[in-house]
Amino acid sequence: MRRQPATIYRRDTTMKAIQAARGTRDLLPPETELWNHIEATSRRVFARYCFGEIRTPIFEDTQLFARSVGEETDIVSKEMYTWEDRARAQSEKAQSLTLRPENTAGVVRAYIEHKLGETGLLQKLYYIGPQFRRERPQKGRYRQFYQIGAEVIGPTSAGSESPLRDAEILEMLATLLDELGIAEWKLYLNSVGSASDRPRYVLALQEALKEIAPKLCADCQRRVQTNPLRVLDCKIPEDQPFIETLPKIAEFLDADSQVHFAQVCAALDACGVPYIVNPRLVRGLDYYTRTTFEFVHTGLGAQNALLGGGRYDGLSEAIGGPKAPGIGFAMGADRLVLTLQAQRESQNATAIASLADAYIAPLGEAQQVQALVLARELRRAGLRVELGDGSFRIKKSFEIGNRLARRIVLFGEEEAQSSIMTVKDFASGAQTKIPRAELAQALQQR
Ligand code: HAM
Repeated sequence: MRRQPATIYRRDTTMKAIQAARGTRDLLPPETELWNHIEATSRRVFARYCFGEIRTPIFEDTQLFARSVGEETDIVSKEMYTWEDRARAQSEKAQSLTLRPENTAGVVRAYIEHKLGETGLLQKLYYIGPQFRRERPQKGRYRQFYQIGAEVIGPTSAGSESPLRDAEILEMLATLLDELGIAEWKLYLNSVGSASDRPRYVLALQEALKEIAPKLCADCQRRVQTNPLRVLDCKIPEDQPFIETLPKIAEFLDADSQVHFAQVCAALDACGVPYIVNPRLVRGLDYYTRTTFEFVHTGLGAQNALLGGGRYDGLSEAIGGPKAPGIGFAMGADRLVLTLQAQRESQNATAIASLADAYIAPLGEAQQVQALVLARELRRAGLRVELGDGSFRIKKSFEIGNRLARRIVLFGEEEAQSSIMTVKDFASGAQTKIPRAELAQALQQR
């Protein structure tokens, strides 16, 4: 039987070319080299602190985020990509699924699902991957963005509640940012108290807000009703003098939370990690208890948080698991890239060396296959090699070679027969003859 021909694609000149969806973008070379550098450096530092990698699904049951991040947060109430999955059978209810807006909830879900607490050891897990929030896109804020994060979680008997864990994570982050080459970061630190401190503070806040609410921006007026803690996050300059008058959470911490915070600060002092206590740092997720923190970079503009995190001692129980206190963070990889790019531009440094070691120019189409063989030899010796095109005139080969590589290796009939290669270094202009057997070694010398 003859098969129907497949759809024939015709060029439709009336149609606009399809673009990446709003808030998403393509990452292209050479920028992707910077991404790889950031990821590789993070993996190296995490390994030194004995973290292992976890990879959780990109989508989860919607309830997971509602019960952890919190129904009233901006993330859950406005920013999630949620859909009803098709029911498997007519009798079944369709399941609501959501693209993960963050990764902590998924990690804690996996911790519970795989009974990792039963090992009796602290679980130290890191992740690298995309997250999705339907925010208004701007510089440093995207709808698909990338986080590099880590969590330390375990039963209390494993020491998961210790303030030393908070300090160790913060000290690791200071080391990681230094190794990434991020200059001039600032660490803001606060305690949002225990699960019992918070309601007392929220009551006091609501009381104080009754008076000033009419003078605040429309967003804050809404937050007074839905989530009064969020008023402290307000960035509107006109609101700041009023917000300054609100009670501070530090005044509502119970004795245990006060001791915990003092011990975190003392351990950071001992390590020489600088920090600034910011009583207004409450963060946009509901699961936090006690320590919260953000590392910021002034060069980033409005979206200045390089990373954020904190302790979440009740999160496991909130999603149906055993008691498993934890602490973690997530870095915005997009913002690390922006910061490093800006630093490099201001230092006039070139992008990570993306030039190949050599460009092999076959002089004529007859030499192409042998030029491919030479490229194979050099690449197997570990060199970065671009292969030219035998149809190019020599002038064009030089022009293209100059854009792609540090040197050009001319490969004509004469070179093929004599096994003596002609190599030109673009920077110095020097032209040399090198026997083929010594070529790889010669090109390795920069
Ligand atoms: P978060 O503060 O929502 O915390 O996000 C952490 C970081 O992700 C931010 O500081 C920022 O660098 C980056 N980020 C967030 N949203 C965007 C966006 N739309 N575009 C670009 N970058 C963004 C969390 O996600 C928590 N899960 C962190 C955590 C881990 N807490 C405990 N463990």
